[in-house]
Amino acid sequence: MEMITVQTQPIEGQKPGTSGLRKKTKVFMGAHYLENFVQAIWQGIDGAVGKSFVLGGDGRYFNEQAAQVILRMAAASGATKVIVGQNALLSTPAASHLIRKRKTDGGIIMSASHNPGGIDEDFGVKFNMANGGPAPEDVTNRMFEATKTLTSYDILQAQDVDLSTVGSSKLGGMEVEVVDPVVDYAELMETLFDFAKIRVLFAGGFTMKFDAMHAVTGPYATEILERHLGAPVGTVLNGDPKPDFGGGHPDPNPIWAKPLVDLVMGPDAPDFAAASDGDGDRNMILGRGVYVTPSDSLAVLAARAHLAPGYAAGLAGVARSMPTSRAVDRVADAKGIACFETPTGWKFFGNLLDAGRVTLCGEESAGTGSDHVREKDGLWAVLLWLNILAETGLSVKDLLSDHWATYGRNYYSRHDYEAVDAIRAEAMMEALRAKLVDLPGQTFGAGMVESADEFAYDDPVDNSRSEGQGIRIVFAGGSRIVFRLSGTGTVGATLRVYLEAYESDPTKLQMEAETALSDIIATADKIAGIRASTGRDAPDVKT
Ligand code: G1P
Ligand code: ZN
Repeated sequence: MEMITVQTQPIEGQKPGTSGLRKKTKVFMGAHYLENFVQAIWQGIDGAVGKSFVLGGDGRYFNEQAAQVILRMAAASGATKVIVGQNALLSTPAASHLIRKRKTDGGIIMSASHNPGGIDEDFGVKFNMANGGPAPEDVTNRMFEATKTLTSYDILQAQDVDLSTVGSSKLGGMEVEVVDPVVDYAELMETLFDFAKIRVLFAGGFTMKFDAMHAVTGPYATEILERHLGAPVGTVLNGDPKPDFGGGHPDPNPIWAKPLVDLVMGPDAPDFAAASDGDGDRNMILGRGVYVTPSDSLAVLAARAHLAPGYAAGLAGVARSMPTSRAVDRVADAKGIACFETPTGWKFFGNLLDAGRVTLCGEESAGTGSDHVREKDGLWAVLLWLNILAETGLSVKDLLSDHWATYGRNYYSRHDYEAVDAIRAEAMMEALRAKLVDLPGQTFGAGMVESADEFAYDDPVDNSRSEGQGIRIVFAGGSRIVFRLSGTGTVGATLRVYLEAYESDPTKLQMEAETALSDIIATADKIAGIRASTGRDAPDVKT
């Protein structure tokens, strides 16, 4: 085996976004593309010498080939050990857990999350730190800087490592340990939740469907739900991971997981249903006849988490990303615990979790998690829901109604305008920015503007500041509109408009969200001129 140094040149545009570097698969497969970025990762973390890492991905097209390249580069760069999920598979939360459990210096996760997979679709690479969480901005900025000056990378010339068999082998001077991707994660879940109680629930005839969307959570859900918890075989749908996710978007929302939504709204609805995304960190929660928005799910979990053994001591605090609805704020208020508002992206929760200031956190984009790992965790959210359903004996619908009756309801919807011309989208945001100072005091259909600003976050733990994190317009009475451009798209710009209206009148808690939000939706267009700027009559996706 020979270590070679390959001459290369900087490649433009290797800037990590909200969650690592995401590009079209063919771009990643291009000459030196992956190698340059991996070399930049090593530079961003002051080298790989003497370090150990975790490596795994969501099984999408190019997953295993990329893993082999990363292993050869890790070996050539002086890493001592890489722990790899069997067949290069690891869900994102399971990778986060392994990094923490095995105390490695970090890990590389190969995923483009909920984006479709395949040779013509998306691929991604993300670095997580020793705490198990996504690299913070200063580190990703260093990686990006490194991509601009690279002239070479080191790689071992070697045969592929056998990743199909659990066990250890050597690659040059480096140890490669292939592990079962599910076992450690399943053990962790058992420490947090009352598996015995959930087993009784299933034994009593409680019915559930979990749609793994042909993505990485299939093996995890089958092992935990069907084997550990005794849910009937067939509870997990689409449980076999496929390189193209069966041709769909592995995105657990009412658009891409429509068959599951149709099922719970139909005559054969199970008691409970859920879905997860490509890499297993997102979740969607449904009950018979009801869809639970991620923002409401976070609030319900915050209100009742103490019913699960892992959270019996109560919550230190909670956090949500800025665009996430403020439903959880009301729970925090009632419980007298802190509630933090952070920029979009899981990496901003890391410091708060590490410092023990929050126990639970979440985002409107189907992400919920806790301090058990440093990523959002789809299956974890499902298990916490199951634990709460088992303890309360309530249906999902009744639990939600009970929650709204107690705290009021934050009607919520997100409208996405995808693949918009990037220059026009930027121009619209710029025009909005210019308007902000004049908005307070003006009245629209949604009410009087109380405040309008561009969100900036001062991290209370490390005092770092993140600016330009979305424009928010708050109305008297608690309604709110947020505008942001996506940081994960791979084509043009995606404009996200987040719409929220608070309602405490007990007779108005069961409306359709889009109806309850109609004034806010019209106001958003009036203020920002969305239609004129994007040239679109309607959003591409409403979630
Ligand atoms: C999107 C979501 C965000 C999430 C991220 C990674 O980012 O909005 O909440 O953390 O994916 O899953 P965006 O495309 O909005 O930048
Ligand atoms: Zn994901």
